[in-house]
Amino acid sequence: NEVPEIMEEFHNVPNTDWNLPQNIAWAHKIKTDWETPENIIGTTIPVVGELDNIERYTIKVNNWSGTPPWDYEMAVKEDYQKAVDSTTEWQNFDAEKRAHLLKRAAVEIEKSRANLIGVGVAELGKTVKEVDVEVSEAIDFANFYAESSLEIAKEFTSDDIGINLVLSPWNFPIAIPIGGVLASLAAGKKVILKPSTNASACAYLTCKCLWEAGIPKDALYFLPCEEAILDDFLSSGNVFDAVILTGGTETALFLLERNPQLNLYAETGGKNATIVTSLADKEQAALNIVQSSFGNAGQKCSATSLLILTEDVFNNNEFKALLKDATKSKVFGNPWDYATEIGPLAVQLSEKLKHVIQNTPDHQWLVKPKLNGNHMLTPGIIWDVTTADYPYQNELFGPILCVVKAKDLKDAVRIANNVDYGLTTGLESLDDNEIEYWNTHIEAGNKYVNRSTTGAIVQRQPFGGIKASCFGFGMKAGGINYVLQFTNIKSKTTDW
Ligand code: ALA
Repeated sequence: NEVPEIMEEFHNVPNTDWNLPQNIAWAHKIKTDWETPENIIGTTIPVVGELDNIERYTIKVNNWSGTPPWDYEMAVKEDYQKAVDSTTEWQNFDAEKRAHLLKRAAVEIEKSRANLIGVGVAELGKTVKEVDVEVSEAIDFANFYAESSLEIAKEFTSDDIGINLVLSPWNFPIAIPIGGVLASLAAGKKVILKPSTNASACAYLTCKCLWEAGIPKDALYFLPCEEAILDDFLSSGNVFDAVILTGGTETALFLLERNPQLNLYAETGGKNATIVTSLADKEQAALNIVQSSFGNAGQKCSATSLLILTEDVFNNNEFKALLKDATKSKVFGNPWDYATEIGPLAVQLSEKLKHVIQNTPDHQWLVKPKLNGNHMLTPGIIWDVTTADYPYQNELFGPILCVVKAKDLKDAVRIANNVDYGLTTGLESLDDNEIEYWNTHIEAGNKYVNRSTTGAIVQRQPFGGIKASCFGFGMKAGGINYVLQFTNIKSKTTDW
């Protein structure tokens, strides 16, 4: 593979072309290399930026393939205190230097694409293609936030002090943690990354790219830990300039109720609807919906989990058959196989998913999911769910789609908006008037017409929600002003 160059002007990097035989061979090689992961990541995922001479413990976490042959070192309070108290040369760098190092980080991430794909599959059971797309997003964040830093410096001066904390989830174990880290660094902040423990190997290998690019270890701390360690730092006052959380709405509410002063910027859950009207291209609609609902095994805050059909579509057997066929023809199975489109659940079957699988009567499944063990769950579609039903009211975070009947588009929009969340939403219709009505009345941060509701691309589709899907200022990730919101802008007035 060619060594990538530092990007002069921002553009999105391409994903791997899986039509090329050499890339398929490359995927096989990644799989073979990861049969001995200790040669790539060692046997312990370490904390980095730690205080010396402190005892730490390690833990093991089971995952989709059993117990991975590595364990996770856990940071202690003293490590956090050191990160908060320390100084770093990062805060003396001007925007140009910061941007240069961020762009070098993008190059390092590209160079590590194979290992990042490997760790994403090995640790979380994401498919090869899914991790590949995530690596591209991480590179885009690095290049885009580097440009943001330069743009901000043209207009504003800032006090580059302070520290951010990034609390990241396991479902996008590469792009989301590093997105928060890169935005913080671009804003001139020190940053601590506390990834979800079961996704720490992914986060660690991504951070390594940043350190290798020259971003100092005293500017980027990697401190996986148990949640209790954070209590002293989060429960009162404002130790952090920003706490950047991607996670559950309950977590955001808990943090804010306990400490209303917290500078929390949170992107949380979604109960996202796609509406299909009789004026849709039904075949394309079925493909888009299946992609939106079952990609990443449905474990996306952006996934379509409600499919709202106007009455004529609901009663149209042809559409029903298209949806069923599109679902069944998705390749389900081993995530190491580059052809797999839907892989296992990253974490073991949740109580919510179990509840739905156990309590949905047979006749209501348009496609009945099959469960093998605790992780291998094929996609399921529940037909004719009402707003009073459990699957409508709960974010299931798995490959289960609920089909709801509406009288017409107006009714469909009402049903779609009748949830607390407002993250993504889709419309399948070829009619301009319908698109306009929907666009004016639908409540969501990211709206998609005649395409899937997932896979937002940096700069092109800045990503973030409204309503209960968002806390804090709510600037969208991968968009203008995301970095700006973390910057300490100075306003200076002199009277002569
Ligand atoms: N940004 C991710 C998506 O758009 C969550 O699917």
